[in-house]
Amino acid sequence: MVKKIGVLTSGGDSPGMNAAVRAVIRAGIKQGCEMYAIFEGYKGLVEGKIKKVDRSFVSGIVQRGGTILHSARLREFKDEETRKIGIAQLKKHGIEALVVIGGDGTYLGAKKLTEMGVNCIGLPGTIDNDIASTDYTIGFDTCLNTICYCVDKLRDTTESHQRCSIIEVMGNKCGDLALFSGIAEGAEMIITNDHPIPEAEIMKTLSELKQKKKKHDAMIIVSENVFDDIKEFAKRVTNETGFEARAEVLGHLQRGGSPSAFDRILAARMGVYAIDLLLDGKGGVCIGIVNNHLVYYDIYEALQLPRNKHIPMLEIINTLK
Ligand code: F6P
Repeated sequence: MVKKIGVLTSGGDSPGMNAAVRAVIRAGIKQGCEMYAIFEGYKGLVEGKIKKVDRSFVSGIVQRGGTILHSARLREFKDEETRKIGIAQLKKHGIEALVVIGGDGTYLGAKKLTEMGVNCIGLPGTIDNDIASTDYTIGFDTCLNTICYCVDKLRDTTESHQRCSIIEVMGNKCGDLALFSGIAEGAEMIITNDHPIPEAEIMKTLSELKQKKKKHDAMIIVSENVFDDIKEFAKRVTNETGFEARAEVLGHLQRGGSPSAFDRILAARMGVYAIDLLLDGKGGVCIGIVNNHLVYYDIYEALQLPRNKHIPMLEIINTLK
């Protein structure tokens, strides 16, 4: 049975990663394992930034945003030679298995390491909710609430000045942050990469809202990467629709902040489950929550699943218009 387990966070940080690290370390110690923190993701693994930790290492972090383990992206981890260096670093400490917390790039690294003899379990830590093997990723709920907090404030000034606010949110290639926040904020329009709206149609809808429906203000939520330059798009809206438009890119503030209760609980459940799976001899799998049940999938299978399962929620927008 596995006795020495490492944990790392990798890729874009997300609120709740600390709660997940805490759960993994405490659950491992409870089961009699030696637990190791690996700093700076796969980069730190390759560089040997590894430390044995006790349960007090994760005291007082459940409510903290970011990740105390720090995070990094290491493209070279795709190369077998780089992974071999990482494995050699693990061997120095006798570490036999890993829990990795991150997004799909992190998962792929975990699968490859498993194939090289180090059992790894992936936990979905990303604000993007772009991992199809789980209904929710750790950090998505907090990020969504942060977006709503910001948009609520924007709404005040948008209404006062009778403008159209165009708000760009993160999500990488996944539209869930735009979709969910658009519904929560009663946005006039939600535009994502999976649900692009031709510009002519956007202009027509906004013009009608202004001229025919006598709407004084409007909110549009847009996923990142939909427009090359959202400020330029706002200028075109101003020129073509009768609305005075302003663009806001929420940016990295979306990734920060104390995790919501939902994310903390999700992280705790998944962290404990990860240790159970490792002690059961599993590796190369990732954990998800589906219909409120913890599940696990082979990582390759998980990465093949169709994404954007929440897109039918767009219907809600049409119904509530
Ligand atoms: O994956 C999380 C995420 O915040 C995406 O939403 C975004 O596209 C990307 O990371 C930004 O990455 P970076 O912090 O490297 O600029």
